[in-house]
Amino acid sequence: MWRASVLTIFPDFFPGPLGASLAGKALAAGAWSLDVVDIRTFATDKHRTVDDTPAGGGPGMVMKADVLARAIDATATDKRPRLMLTPRGMPLTQARVERLAAGSGVVLVCGRFEGIDERVIAGRRLEEVSIGDYVLSGGEIAAMVLIDACVRLRPGVMGAAASGVEESFTAGLLEYPHYTRPQLWEGRPIPEVLLSGDHGKIAAWRRSEAERLTRERRPDLWAAFLARSRGRPRTE
Ligand SMILES: C[S@@+](CC[C@H](N)C(=O)[O-])C[C@H]1O[C@@H](n2cnc3c(N)ncnc32)[C@H](O)[C@@H]1O
Repeated sequence: MWRASVLTIFPDFFPGPLGASLAGKALAAGAWSLDVVDIRTFATDKHRTVDDTPAGGGPGMVMKADVLARAIDATATDKRPRLMLTPRGMPLTQARVERLAAGSGVVLVCGRFEGIDERVIAGRRLEEVSIGDYVLSGGEIAAMVLIDACVRLRPGVMGAAASGVEESFTAGLLEYPHYTRPQLWEGRPIPEVLLSGDHGKIAAWRRSEAERLTRERRPDLWAAFLARSRGRPRTE
């Protein structure tokens, strides 16, 4: 079973949205498991202190290495990747999500305050991962994002298996536009090709729309896509 262990000072945040919809049903059905570890239970003082002032001064507080290391040591007793959510980490990509989803699970460390003592990151070999170029107030929502992205790829979790195959990023492109009935809505028709019944033409239209959207919205993805296809985007 795919296991997610989350280390946090806000255990009550979980499962949160992970307890609903696809992920929640799969959790209830035992397709994956979630252990939430309260970092404070590894503090040794009566106030259950997990943070202290930054060495060298400056604003905010820093999560203590000793307390966090005890929490990690008690939790990460297997070979699952240990990830720490942080804005300075490597950006989470669909390719990384696919690799994580194909493994046995993840151990996720949620930061709070200004961040975590650098020594525990090195000492416990935490891989730093970011969910985007913005700053959240804590790692919990980032951990939920990562878990949700992985769990939906686990066998049997998504309703239609194909919906995982044709999604944004899977082929290095953003996804093409979708339509459903009614055929005409507020004067806007469904593109004729989608009603043609010609599967070859539909596939070609979707492909060219995916390429157009990627080119217009994500020059970074488009450049990588062109490099991978040696400058010749497929337009079948
Ligand atoms: C207020 S933030 C700390 C920001 C940090 N001082 C910095 O400038 O990089 C507190 C915690 O939120 C989490 N966090 C914030 N933004 C994130 C992001 N974009 N991706 C992943 N985790 C994030 C991290 O766990 C971080 O330790």
